[in-house]
Amino acid sequence: MKTITVPEDMQKTALDLRRAGKRIGLVPTMGFLHEGHLSLVKLARQQADVVVLSIFVNPTQFGPNEDFSRYPRNFERDAALCQAAGVDIIFNPAPEAMYPAGYSVYVEENVLAKGLCGASRPGHFRGVLTVVAKLFNLVLPDVAVFGQKDAQQARLIQQMAHNLNFPIAILLAPIIRESNGLAMSSRNAYLAPAERREALCLQQALKTARRLYRAGERDARRIIAAMQAGIEQIPSARVDYIAIVDHDTLQPVAQLDTPVLVALAVSIGKTRLIDNLALPEDGLSHLPAMK
Ligand code: PAJ
Repeated sequence: MKTITVPEDMQKTALDLRRAGKRIGLVPTMGFLHEGHLSLVKLARQQADVVVLSIFVNPTQFGPNEDFSRYPRNFERDAALCQAAGVDIIFNPAPEAMYPAGYSVYVEENVLAKGLCGASRPGHFRGVLTVVAKLFNLVLPDVAVFGQKDAQQARLIQQMAHNLNFPIAILLAPIIRESNGLAMSSRNAYLAPAERREALCLQQALKTARRLYRAGERDARRIIAAMQAGIEQIPSARVDYIAIVDHDTLQPVAQLDTPVLVALAVSIGKTRLIDNLALPEDGLSHLPAMK
């Protein structure tokens, strides 16, 4: 396994690999890796000859009052996990190398990015799409793998690849959860032990939605109200949004008659967490069996 830090070196290596006929798979991450990230590597391994995992805490996707400086970082641990998972190249550029002085070009999407997390994190998806476009041009992957954990992000990247004609297959991987059902996230490291228990309210709310849906309920407002009521039981939980949106357009629906995404963002203390469930369940964002 090798680590590349200079963007130009990454691109030259990628060009050489492609000229040698190798299929490149890319797994973009911000590091502090967990089983969710490693499941993406596994999928990339199945699809490519060479797997590149990028580790880059991307400053442009963090708002001024967000957690960029305190975002968890541990390169040594990440490198060991990558080695064990069969990553071939870690791409770990410095912020100044990705955004040198005078940097001024950004990728913006203006429809899908408006709602859900985009509403409370203005500029977030502009930063995500910009860095992912740059990674695509530096790593030149045939296939790139993203998690359904960040469903809106995944949908936006599919849209960008399609609209900007990137010749890259975008693969989505299912949400990986801890044994108690909490969706894995690098930000779970912020949670104190009591908060980790309180954080289970996100998936409990999704289970409520699933239970009502299975019982035949199709009214979005009633499902959202039931989810909200459950979360209100947890004093430290503050709802950012609970939404039921069309799976493709991400626009809110009144009735759950077509494939939808039930998505929520909830802060537990100072930590903002997200989770989602596709209905009918599609295997990408399923939940463990109901308790
Ligand atoms: P990060 O949060 O590190 O996530 C990297 C990738 O891992 C994303 O595609 C995310 O959806 C996926 N992932 C995270 N938790 C997961 C889980 N529990 N199960 C399955 N997949 C999971 O998302 C980002 O970084 C950044 O926005 C990035 C795309 C790298 C751009 O900076």
